[in-house]
Amino acid sequence: MTGELSPIDTAKFVAAKRAVEFVEDGMRIGMGTGSTAAWMVKCLGELVRDEGLKITGVPTSTRTAELARQVGIKVVSLDEARWLDLTIDGTDEFDADLCLIKGGGGALLQEKIVATASDQMIVIADPSKQVEHLGAFPLPVEVIPFGWQTTKALIEEMLVSMDVLGQSATLRMNGDAAFVTDEGNHIVDLHLTRIGNPRQMSLVLNQVPGVVENGLFIDICDVVVTGYADGRVEVLDINEGTLEEDQINFADAENMFADI
Ligand code: 5RP
Repeated sequence: MTGELSPIDTAKFVAAKRAVEFVEDGMRIGMGTGSTAAWMVKCLGELVRDEGLKITGVPTSTRTAELARQVGIKVVSLDEARWLDLTIDGTDEFDADLCLIKGGGGALLQEKIVATASDQMIVIADPSKQVEHLGAFPLPVEVIPFGWQTTKALIEEMLVSMDVLGQSATLRMNGDAAFVTDEGNHIVDLHLTRIGNPRQMSLVLNQVPGVVENGLFIDICDVVVTGYADGRVEVLDINEGTLEEDQINFADAENMFADI
């Protein structure tokens, strides 16, 4: 260990560190998936270990469940928790309305179910995730394996009449085989460049037979915490209409988590 985080990891860490300040004793927390969310799980684990914070965590993937158990967080299923106080997750893109594209890590289905079953969703991000228009990041769509080629063709046909700049769709691969989600499904990534009407796109996609869910999160996210490499954080709350700035100490981050 060098004792120094890269600029991007520092940004992710400080966003995560600020976001866990929203967590209170006794809360049921939805835990997202991805490299930014992993920092949040580590920060929560630190609070459980060092400050005796009592929380129950609902992970959105097997990866997150493993990490959460490793850092000492009590893990339960969504069926056991039923409803959550707060979900903290990463994102692939967010816009000014806090609409998101998620699913780069392939966990969008559980992520959307868990976030929707929460009183509040906080997204943690580095500045590269903020966009004027959603769509530069390929939009993930989870489809069932049965007839996936037909489903993909139906999606492509639908895209012709949508307000988008690109219309190609690709099956996500894992080496030579199709990528398989935790739910046993495949992902079709839509290369749209710019999505003119994300709300309409989400509704129309979910009408296609074979589509389980898409990676557009509309009216789900309440707060975005953006971290910067110099330790600054911005907390944008869409409901309150507020933007707050803060500074997070990140000097010991690498050493703190060296054993995880
Ligand atoms: C996983 C996700 C992730 O939150 C998203 O891909 C961001 O990942 P990272 O924090 O590694 O950039 O939606 O399905």
